[in-house]
Amino acid sequence: MEKRKIGFELFIFDDETELSQNDQKLLRDAAAARENAYAPYSKFKVGAAVLLENGEVVIGNNQENASYPSGLCAERVAIFHAGAEYPGVTIKSVAISASSSKHEVEEPAAPCGNCRQTIMEYEQKQNSPISLLLRSEKGPIYKCSSVADILPLAFNSSFLGDS
Ligand code: THU
Repeated sequence: MEKRKIGFELFIFDDETELSQNDQKLLRDAAAARENAYAPYSKFKVGAAVLLENGEVVIGNNQENASYPSGLCAERVAIFHAGAEYPGVTIKSVAISASSSKHEVEEPAAPCGNCRQTIMEYEQKQNSPISLLLRSEKGPIYKCSSVADILPLAFNSSFLGDS
Protein backbone atom coordinates (compact mmCIF):
# COMPACT_ATOMS: atom_id res chain seq x y z
CA MET A 1 0.00 0.00 0.00
CA GLU A 2 1.22 3.46 -0.84
CA LYS A 3 -0.20 6.53 0.76
CA ARG A 4 0.18 9.68 -1.30
CA LYS A 5 -0.57 13.15 -0.06
CA ILE A 6 -1.63 15.64 -2.73
CA GLY A 7 -1.41 19.35 -1.99
CA PHE A 8 -1.11 22.66 -3.75
CA GLU A 9 0.14 26.17 -3.17
CA LEU A 10 -2.55 28.76 -2.49
CA PHE A 11 -1.38 32.38 -2.52
CA ILE A 12 -3.41 34.61 -0.22
CA PHE A 13 -3.30 38.39 -0.57
CA ASP A 14 -4.88 40.74 1.94
CA ASP A 15 -4.98 43.62 -0.44
CA GLU A 16 -5.19 44.03 -4.22
CA THR A 17 -2.20 46.37 -4.22
CA GLU A 18 -0.06 43.28 -3.56
CA LEU A 19 -1.03 41.95 -6.99
CA SER A 20 0.56 42.71 -10.36
CA GLN A 21 -1.11 45.44 -12.41
CA ASN A 22 -2.42 42.78 -14.82
CA ASP A 23 -4.02 40.77 -12.02
CA GLN A 24 -5.53 43.89 -10.46
CA LYS A 25 -7.13 44.82 -13.77
CA LEU A 26 -8.41 41.30 -14.39
CA LEU A 27 -10.09 41.25 -10.99
CA ARG A 28 -11.67 44.62 -11.70
CA ASP A 29 -12.93 43.28 -15.04
CA ALA A 30 -14.45 40.28 -13.26
CA ALA A 31 -16.12 42.54 -10.68
CA ALA A 32 -17.56 44.74 -13.45
CA ALA A 33 -18.84 41.65 -15.31
CA ARG A 34 -20.50 40.48 -12.09
CA GLU A 35 -22.76 43.51 -12.09
CA ASN A 36 -24.46 42.27 -15.28
CA ALA A 37 -25.09 38.75 -14.00
CA TYR A 38 -28.65 37.50 -14.39
CA ALA A 39 -29.26 35.90 -11.01
CA PRO A 40 -32.87 36.62 -9.97
CA TYR A 41 -33.26 33.24 -8.25
CA SER A 42 -30.09 32.78 -6.21
CA LYS A 43 -29.30 36.51 -5.80
CA PHE A 44 -25.70 35.30 -6.03
CA LYS A 45 -23.88 37.18 -8.75
CA VAL A 46 -20.64 35.94 -10.24
CA GLY A 47 -18.40 37.60 -12.81
CA ALA A 48 -15.47 36.03 -14.62
CA ALA A 49 -12.75 37.59 -16.75
CA VAL A 50 -10.48 35.47 -18.96
CA LEU A 51 -7.08 36.87 -19.95
CA LEU A 52 -5.73 35.54 -23.25
CA GLU A 53 -2.16 35.41 -24.46
CA ASN A 54 -2.96 38.04 -27.10
CA GLY A 55 -3.90 40.48 -24.30
CA GLU A 56 -7.64 40.31 -24.93
CA VAL A 57 -9.96 39.96 -21.94
CA VAL A 58 -13.21 38.01 -22.40
CA ILE A 59 -15.88 38.23 -19.75
CA GLY A 60 -18.85 36.19 -18.57
CA ASN A 61 -21.35 36.17 -15.74
CA ASN A 62 -23.86 33.68 -14.40
CA GLN A 63 -27.07 33.38 -16.38
CA GLU A 64 -29.92 31.76 -14.47
CA ASN A 65 -33.19 30.31 -15.73
CA ALA A 66 -36.63 29.57 -14.26
CA SER A 67 -35.77 25.99 -15.11
CA TYR A 68 -32.83 26.07 -12.71
CA PRO A 69 -30.47 23.53 -14.35
CA SER A 70 -30.69 25.40 -17.65
CA GLY A 71 -28.65 28.27 -16.22
CA LEU A 72 -24.89 28.49 -16.51
CA CYS A 73 -22.07 29.63 -14.23
CA ALA A 74 -20.02 32.74 -14.98
CA GLU A 75 -16.80 30.79 -15.53
CA ARG A 76 -18.30 28.61 -18.25
CA VAL A 77 -20.04 31.53 -19.94
CA ALA A 78 -16.65 33.30 -20.05
CA ILE A 79 -14.50 30.34 -21.08
CA PHE A 80 -16.92 29.23 -23.82
CA HIS A 81 -17.12 32.82 -24.99
CA ALA A 82 -13.30 32.84 -25.24
CA GLY A 83 -13.30 29.51 -27.10
CA ALA A 84 -15.94 30.78 -29.50
CA GLU A 85 -14.36 34.14 -30.21
CA TYR A 86 -10.65 33.27 -29.99
CA PRO A 87 -10.33 29.58 -30.83
CA GLY A 88 -6.84 28.24 -30.24
CA VAL A 89 -5.58 31.33 -28.40
CA THR A 90 -3.89 30.35 -25.13
CA ILE A 91 -5.71 31.27 -21.93
CA LYS A 92 -3.42 32.69 -19.25
CA SER A 93 -5.67 33.42 -16.33
CA VAL A 94 -9.27 33.53 -15.08
CA ALA A 95 -10.43 36.00 -12.42
CA ILE A 96 -13.68 35.29 -10.57
CA SER A 97 -15.65 37.74 -8.46
CA ALA A 98 -18.76 36.87 -6.42
CA SER A 99 -21.32 38.69 -4.29
CA SER A 100 -24.75 38.06 -2.82
CA SER A 101 -27.54 40.50 -2.09
CA LYS A 102 -28.69 38.15 0.70
CA HIS A 103 -25.55 38.19 2.83
CA GLU A 104 -21.98 39.38 2.81
CA VAL A 105 -19.67 36.90 1.09
CA GLU A 106 -16.37 37.23 2.92
CA GLU A 107 -14.36 34.34 1.50
CA PRO A 108 -13.41 34.13 -2.17
CA ALA A 109 -15.93 31.86 -3.91
CA ALA A 110 -14.17 28.99 -5.65
CA PRO A 111 -15.38 27.62 -8.98
CA CYS A 112 -17.83 24.71 -8.81
CA GLY A 113 -16.80 21.23 -9.91
CA ASN A 114 -18.32 21.57 -13.39
CA CYS A 115 -16.42 24.81 -13.97
CA ARG A 116 -13.15 23.30 -12.76
CA GLN A 117 -13.61 20.42 -15.19
CA THR A 118 -14.42 22.84 -18.01
CA ILE A 119 -11.42 25.08 -17.42
CA MET A 120 -9.27 21.95 -17.08
CA GLU A 121 -10.24 20.84 -20.60
CA TYR A 122 -8.71 24.04 -21.99
CA GLU A 123 -5.64 23.79 -19.76
CA GLN A 124 -4.94 20.30 -21.07
CA LYS A 125 -5.71 21.21 -24.67
CA GLN A 126 -3.27 24.13 -24.63
CA ASN A 127 -0.75 22.27 -22.47
CA SER A 128 -0.03 25.27 -20.28
CA PRO A 129 -1.43 26.27 -16.89
CA ILE A 130 -4.37 28.61 -16.39
CA SER A 131 -4.03 30.56 -13.15
CA LEU A 132 -7.06 31.49 -11.08
CA LEU A 133 -7.73 34.66 -9.10
CA LEU A 134 -10.65 34.60 -6.68
CA ARG A 135 -12.28 37.36 -4.74
CA SER A 136 -15.63 38.27 -3.25
CA GLU A 137 -16.76 41.84 -2.83
CA LYS A 138 -14.16 42.35 -0.16
CA GLY A 139 -11.83 40.24 1.92
CA PRO A 140 -8.75 38.31 0.84
CA ILE A 141 -7.74 37.38 -2.69
CA TYR A 142 -6.82 33.78 -3.47
CA LYS A 143 -4.56 32.87 -6.34
CA CYS A 144 -3.50 29.46 -7.60
CA SER A 145 -1.17 28.78 -10.48
CA SER A 146 -3.14 26.11 -12.28
CA VAL A 147 -6.69 24.77 -12.33
CA ALA A 148 -5.17 21.29 -11.98
CA ASP A 149 -4.25 22.32 -8.43
CA ILE A 150 -7.90 22.41 -7.43
CA LEU A 151 -8.98 19.39 -9.48
CA PRO A 152 -6.67 16.55 -8.53
CA LEU A 153 -7.16 13.19 -10.25
CA ALA A 154 -9.15 14.91 -12.98
CA PHE A 155 -10.92 13.01 -15.70
CA ASN A 156 -9.56 13.81 -19.15
CA SER A 157 -9.72 12.70 -22.75
CA SER A 158 -6.89 10.19 -22.35
CA PHE A 159 -9.34 7.90 -20.51
CA LEU A 160 -11.46 7.74 -23.64
CA GLY A 161 -8.67 6.00 -25.51
CA ASP A 162 -9.21 7.84 -28.79
CA SER A 163 -6.08 9.99 -28.89
N1 THU B 1 -22.20 30.10 -9.80
C1 THU B 1 -21.26 30.54 -10.67
O1 THU B 1 -21.52 31.36 -11.55
N2 THU B 1 -20.01 30.03 -10.55
C2 THU B 1 -19.64 29.09 -9.64
O2 THU B 1 -18.54 28.57 -9.71
C3 THU B 1 -20.56 28.70 -8.59
C4 THU B 1 -21.96 29.14 -8.75
C5 THU B 1 -23.56 30.62 -9.95
C6 THU B 1 -24.54 29.60 -10.46
C7 THU B 1 -25.85 30.14 -9.93
O3 THU B 1 -26.35 31.10 -10.85
C8 THU B 1 -25.46 30.85 -8.65
O4 THU B 1 -24.05 31.06 -8.71
C9 THU B 1 -25.80 30.08 -7.37
O5 THU B 1 -25.29 28.80 -7.42
